[in-house]
Amino acid sequence: MKIEKARISDVPQMHQLINYFADKGKMLARSLSEIYENIRDYFVVRQGERVIACTALHVSWSDLAEIKSLAVAEDSQKQGIGGKLVEACLSEAGELGVATVFCLTYEVSFFESFGFSQIDKMELPRKVWTECYVCPKFPNCDEVALIYNLPAGV
Ligand SMILES: CC(C)(COP(=O)(O)OP(=O)(O)OC[C@H]1O[C@@H](n2cnc3c(N)ncnc32)[C@H](O)[C@@H]1OP(=O)(O)O)[C@@H](O)C(=O)NCCC(=O)NCCS
Repeated sequence: MKIEKARISDVPQMHQLINYFADKGKMLARSLSEIYENIRDYFVVRQGERVIACTALHVSWSDLAEIKSLAVAEDSQKQGIGGKLVEACLSEAGELGVATVFCLTYEVSFFESFGFSQIDKMELPRKVWTECYVCPKFPNCDEVALIYNLPAGV
């Protein structure tokens, strides 16, 4: 299994994968234009021509980045792919020099197993809420906010 940066040709499949889970209420839907515009944020895992998993690391501010749109196709789950994608995001955050990574998710124990800890959503800066305003659940968000502090100097 190889984690790679996404390419333009991956976008239709990433869009389908993300919105499959969004339709089930597990994550936020993404438009094709959002994915194209942020393509440099995304990692994918491919199996031949097929995109079986993706995620994005989006920088919010000097000390903060978000893991977004983490999705692993149902027939490829529980094989460590989601975990490897989280690790790739944390590693990229370290390379960029970002101190803290956060996510908003229902998969709390999954993220806790990587050292993330729960925080009150209100502790996140307002800047990261721009997407929340367009979410159908706003303002009754039931996702959990978790953060991971990277070791200094990594
Ligand atoms: C959440 C999600 C990304 C996890 O992806 P995944 O590839 O299944 O994740 P992993 O395989 O790395 O780990 C999942 C679990 O399988 C276990 N696992 C990993 N490799 C395994 C293996 N070879 N055999 C059995 N179990 C395994 C892990 O220990 C982990 O256990 P946990 O549920 O107690 O945390 C995936 O379920 C998903 O896409 N869900 C739908 C979308 C979603 O909810 N995304 C999160 C939005 S932030």
